[in-house]
Amino acid sequence: MSDTPPTPAGDAWTVKRILDWTIPHLKSHGSESPRLDAEILLAHARGCPRIQLYTNFDQPLTDEQRAVMRDLVKRRAAAEPVAYLVGHREFFGLDFRVTKDVLVPRPDTETLIVEAIEGLKPLAQPRVLDIGTGSGCIAIALAVRCPQAVVTAVDLSEPALAIARENAAKHNVADRIRFLSGDLFAPLPDAEPFDLIASNPPYIASAEIETLQPDVRLHEPRSALDGGPDGLDIIRRLIAEAPRYLVPQGKLLIEISGEQAEAVMQLLTANGSYDGIAVLKDLAKQPRVVRAVRKG
Ligand SMILES: C[S@@+](CC[C@H](N)C(=O)[O-])C[C@H]1O[C@@H](n2cnc3c(N)ncnc32)[C@H](O)[C@@H]1O
Repeated sequence: MSDTPPTPAGDAWTVKRILDWTIPHLKSHGSESPRLDAEILLAHARGCPRIQLYTNFDQPLTDEQRAVMRDLVKRRAAAEPVAYLVGHREFFGLDFRVTKDVLVPRPDTETLIVEAIEGLKPLAQPRVLDIGTGSGCIAIALAVRCPQAVVTAVDLSEPALAIARENAAKHNVADRIRFLSGDLFAPLPDAEPFDLIASNPPYIASAEIETLQPDVRLHEPRSALDGGPDGLDIIRRLIAEAPRYLVPQGKLLIEISGEQAEAVMQLLTANGSYDGIAVLKDLAKQPRVVRAVRKG
């Protein structure tokens, strides 16, 4: 199958015809959600909400819309993530701008947000630290849902921080989030206290990256994925350094992969500064987050 629809023989390229052509095309190029992808791309090309495709099934596309759609489909067929193609992604009910400089926010990460919100609710003005903020989705979702929270968000990547700042402004929480550039805790004043430290760090083992879906492997930032030989390089450092920045009874939440749960529990226990160590599961019942409470 070629990368562009054949020239129509008589019939116009309506919404329905474009979808009928695009869905099997994307499927044959490895998309796991070809209908959803096709609909999101077509809505983007037409500049309309996705729901409107259904009420406009018989409407032809303009030449310009077809040209835009042709380019989007070609790039999606080459495994470019839909979120990068349309420039945004929904996370925890909020719309985030995303570019190739940031990881695409994942529904898996909502497990961490739900747990964090529960812990922050009873606190008057909780201080929250998000390490490896990327698009800012964790820091911003917490700032939006916990209007009393003051948040610090750190990332090594300046381009990622620029996107995170944009997202904070878009959601009107820029005045409650301080963005810092640097390596984990390095940009913070020594032992600054936090009630919650949250992180979705890079946690894929380096060798495993080549086995990931092309969407992730070819397009998402390597620095957002690569957790070193066993995937735990950053997690080890977070566990070792966080106690200096947590108030007594302060909480550490780290997103992990299912296979890492046991090793990470051992690291937390061996550290000696934590109580209440637990693994939380995501909606698919997979271990997804470790929680630990600073002793004291
Ligand atoms: C898995 S992504 C998470 C992004 C976002 N928090 C999310 O949940 O979608 C990890 C992020 O950590 C950042 N990062 C990697 N190593 C870091 C380090 N040593 N210090 C600070 N940030 C780091 C990457 O640039 C990337 O934005």
